[in-house]
Amino acid sequence: MKSYIIEGGRKLEGESYVSGSKNASLPIIAASILNGGVTKLYNVPNIHDTQKMLEILKKLGCKIKHNSGKIIIDSKNIKRWEIPEDLMRQMRSSVIIAGALIARFQKATFSYPGGCDIGSRPIDLHLKAFEKLGVNIEEEAGFIHCQSDKITSAEIQLDFPSVGATENSILAAIFADGETVIKNAAMEPEIVDLQKFLNRMGAKVTGAGTNIIKVQGVKRLKDVSYKIMPDRIEAGTLLCMCAATGGKMFLKDVKPDHLAPVLHKLEETGCKIEIKDTSIILEAPKKLKAVDIKTMPYPGFPTDMQSVFSAMLCFAKGTSIITENIFESRFKYMSELKRMGAKITIEGRTAVIKGGKRLSNATVSATDLRGGAALILAGLVARGKTKVENIGYILRGYENLDQKLNDLGAKIVIKEGE
Ligand code: UD1
Repeated sequence: MKSYIIEGGRKLEGESYVSGSKNASLPIIAASILNGGVTKLYNVPNIHDTQKMLEILKKLGCKIKHNSGKIIIDSKNIKRWEIPEDLMRQMRSSVIIAGALIARFQKATFSYPGGCDIGSRPIDLHLKAFEKLGVNIEEEAGFIHCQSDKITSAEIQLDFPSVGATENSILAAIFADGETVIKNAAMEPEIVDLQKFLNRMGAKVTGAGTNIIKVQGVKRLKDVSYKIMPDRIEAGTLLCMCAATGGKMFLKDVKPDHLAPVLHKLEETGCKIEIKDTSIILEAPKKLKAVDIKTMPYPGFPTDMQSVFSAMLCFAKGTSIITENIFESRFKYMSELKRMGAKITIEGRTAVIKGGKRLSNATVSATDLRGGAALILAGLVARGKTKVENIGYILRGYENLDQKLNDLGAKIVIKEGE
């Protein structure tokens, strides 16, 4: 089992960059099977989750080539429409392949997806949307069989603006006859990136970034090349890590607009933020101030930033109140922070952090991807050596995190089998 060993107490200072977005890459890789041809993708982060997604595509019959940072997917000869159960269990976003398979072959079989354990993560909204589009769904021994004679356009009203259900609805409707309208759609930037990719391929999708998305069915799609957007959660993670250590950094290859709710909160803590086109300069104050955060669907404060931001607030002066509105079990990492001395009380979806305490080094264990990043942040500030175990979760979603942090002056290494 791999661990991170961090020697804390060093300011993060200097220049860094943001990799391609995980949450944009995964649905775009899934959508690449729609054209039955060749897709060239640039800026896909080399992380476990994208590798798994490509592995699923290979199992379905796609040919995949990696060519100096470029991924080429040839989806002409897909022979299967069952998503392999083991891979489905490892990664929740594999469910997005279902929408693409339904659009192209009018059928898909898959089991309930797995992924990070951050609360119950049902797929009822995805299945309801498929049914609206004329898909017949049968469940048998834990497997879901989707089948349709013809995908028909529909009006889909989502009960909640789920990111995954919005993406699956768009993909499944790509070849439907007529116009599909998705209401109460998620507005996340990753959905805008998916729309751009699909339209570059010849699809007719409009409205991404608002809560009404329209998909005008097309007959066929063409080969495509596309560059994935920067990862706004990785950007936020690096900025919070720098702020917690009292440092100063220049972060490039970022879309500052996507980070507006996070930057606004960082300013409230006393950080100086300067935006220059696709770069952000952050300068931490001598002492961070406590702030309250409430996670909301975009453009609210992202749930994916809740853990890292909360870990940073453990070092801020005063009391912060954190409300998690999206996933009910997204505070698990806090019990690990408490082992390092953090003063946190949790009641339901609310956590109260009494900040300003010195945390001490300890051996802690990652409970999920972003919670794992929160523990690294704590280790970067705490005096002495912190060991973060179970880092498989973190490697799922951050590209070269140790190298990027070391380049900023941290001391962090990956140890095998400790
Ligand atoms: C995506 C992101 C994840 C992020 C989340 C919320 C990817 C690969 N993952 O996950 O990093 O934390 O958005 O911003 O893009 N829900 C239902 N029924 C459903 C689907 C969702 O009740 O059928 C609920 C979930 O339990 C959760 C809420 O809706 O409470 C939001 O989930 P959703 O937006 O679907 O998250 P994901 O797409 O899984």
